[in-house]
Amino acid sequence: MQIIDKSEIAPNVYACKVRAEAIAKKVQPGQFIMVIPDQYSERTPITVADWNTSEGTITFIFLDIGSSTNRLAELKPGEEIFSLTGPLGNSFDIKKYGSVGLVGGCYGIGGIYPAARALREKGNRVVCYSEARSKFLLYWNKKLEEVSDEVRYATADGSLGFKGHAYDLLETDLKSGVKYDLVITVGCTFLMYRISKVTEPYQMKTIVSMNPIMIDGTGMCGACRVEVDGATRFACVDGPHFDGHQMNWDLVLARRKAYLDEEIVSGERHDYGKS
Ligand code: FES
Repeated sequence: MQIIDKSEIAPNVYACKVRAEAIAKKVQPGQFIMVIPDQYSERTPITVADWNTSEGTITFIFLDIGSSTNRLAELKPGEEIFSLTGPLGNSFDIKKYGSVGLVGGCYGIGGIYPAARALREKGNRVVCYSEARSKFLLYWNKKLEEVSDEVRYATADGSLGFKGHAYDLLETDLKSGVKYDLVITVGCTFLMYRISKVTEPYQMKTIVSMNPIMIDGTGMCGACRVEVDGATRFACVDGPHFDGHQMNWDLVLARRKAYLDEEIVSGERHDYGKS
């Protein structure tokens, strides 16, 4: 698949637009693709953040965080991605709920964008929470504002919007009487865990978009298993969206760290961070 455009939209965060007619025709909000940058790279699941059916393109946001995403970050417009498969996983259940809060952090800001757009088109009141450590790490502000009734910003240093994390801001809002018929969160595991804990006392339905380690992405290897309401589920085919109040978070957080040592060795062997 050919890269049409690629840019660093925040430090270490890239938006990549590729020509992928078949995927652009089928993809729905919340689905992901499996990307292999070159023949030596591992398979990386990445949420599709935007698409254009008439152009036949899709856009995804990724962090340069390991050997394979570092290789992906090195590829330039005009070059080919070795392999790109999708759309994979289930989409969000897009229908009329009433009022929906969407919380995105990191690559998840791109992840909530198509969901916000689709939910608003269904007549929902859409409030997005966009979080980063500082204002310069936020991206797609204007795009999000265009598809939302309101965008609430949370920065750890207070450089834009609320000073603190998105889960602190959401908690403040809920305590002041704000009600959502549904909360959706996309981002790092810790963010989604904290958001689920914030909404639980209010029995506010909360959908998390799980991002465990994946290999095939099609239900064959079992690497992506999570425990939901006591049952084993595969994030790639049963998810990646699950009820955050039913998730066994201890297991998720432990499994995320399973290959940390190997990732460091891989980075050293690939000279990661020196380019
Ligand atoms: Fe292999 Fe989900 S990634 S079963």
